[in-house]
Amino acid sequence: YRRLRVALLGAGAVGSQVAALLLKHGDELADRAGASLELVGIAVRDLDAPRDVDLPRELFTTDAEELILGADIVIELMGGIEPARTYLMQAINSGADVVTANKALLATYGSEIFEAADQVGAQVYYEAAAAGAIPIIRPLRDSLAGDRVQRIMGIVNGTTNYILDRMDTEGADLVDVLSEAQALGYAEADPSADVDGYDAAQKAAILASLAFHTTVPLSAVHREGIMGLDKAMIDAARHAGYAIKLLAVCERLAPEDEGEEGESISVRVYPALVPRSHPLASVHGANNAVFVQAEAAGSLMFYGAGAGGVQTASAVLGDVVSAARRHIAGGVGVGESTRANLPVVPIGRVTTRY
Ligand code: NDP
Ligand code: HSE
Repeated sequence: YRRLRVALLGAGAVGSQVAALLLKHGDELADRAGASLELVGIAVRDLDAPRDVDLPRELFTTDAEELILGADIVIELMGGIEPARTYLMQAINSGADVVTANKALLATYGSEIFEAADQVGAQVYYEAAAAGAIPIIRPLRDSLAGDRVQRIMGIVNGTTNYILDRMDTEGADLVDVLSEAQALGYAEADPSADVDGYDAAQKAAILASLAFHTTVPLSAVHREGIMGLDKAMIDAARHAGYAIKLLAVCERLAPEDEGEEGESISVRVYPALVPRSHPLASVHGANNAVFVQAEAAGSLMFYGAGAGGVQTASAVLGDVVSAARRHIAGGVGVGESTRANLPVVPIGRVTTRY
């Protein structure tokens, strides 16, 4: 097989599992990719930090820039905006394809990153950037490209679902369960991204952009988190036949007035009362579920692990195999579509409906 050099940036909850699986299943992945995937290094901040899994020490470096040079595929699993953005742009400009799970970065600088990739014929893969292990990016981008998505509704943050579920089923305390979610590797480095709804809003912006073939800026997403909720509210909801879930809802809206031109898009994240008979009420732990309503396909449901290192590593490695196949097939445009240079359509109404 042709040898492809894979550089990994980050060895935390997700990165360490990606490295471990890449080393463990290297031969199988090579057969699937048609290329040998050689992990050439792992960039971290602290060479002596304890890792979730045992990885060869000689792979570790603190020099991410050096590692990126000469890589065919760069996997960014550091999180945050900087230096992730700079490294991703360096990777793209040096001709590498990039794989990232960084929804904060894509929801904020996605257009710039996709445009840079388009200019050099590189590809950006980001299946893990929404709903963890659940395949939702490709279905929206590719499988449903011939349909008209009307609505996406679902639970897209594992940490908050884990918290709300434990509060509901065990009467647990929000702050205690958040600490558990952090220990389990579900939460963001700054967990306020989870509990204040930023992470779900970033994912909603990414999903809505794909579903409605536009660029939905993060600033247009209505966002509420779960910090205002307490046990009494959750108990009251349960007694009334509801579960409280942090929902992301992305909708295509018809013009309200006769004079109004075209459709508009509404994207919002908020804690909602979900009837216990609804499938979303039965989403437990750090699982996520996303309902997609499309004009021709009707209702589709996507369900599975929304957070967790090894689960998310599955989505990341799927992207790595896709990137390798593209390299082997000769590069640009093979079986892929980018979403660069899409117009920003007016977000007419950003409404809050419960
Ligand atoms: P962690 O915080 O567990 O790990 C981050 C890793 O990046 C660490 O190894 C850290 O190094 C390294 N790192 C951070 N900053 C730098 C830097 N400046 N230079 C070099 N290395 C750096 O994050 P996760 O693994 O949880 O998440 C990674 C990405 O995946 C994020 O974008 C997150 O949003 C996304 N994601 C996470 C999921 C999850 O369940 N955890 C699920 C889906 C997506 P060191 O170890 O030395 O500190
Ligand atoms: N912190 C995120 C969550 C990780 O809990 O959903 C997965 O994107």
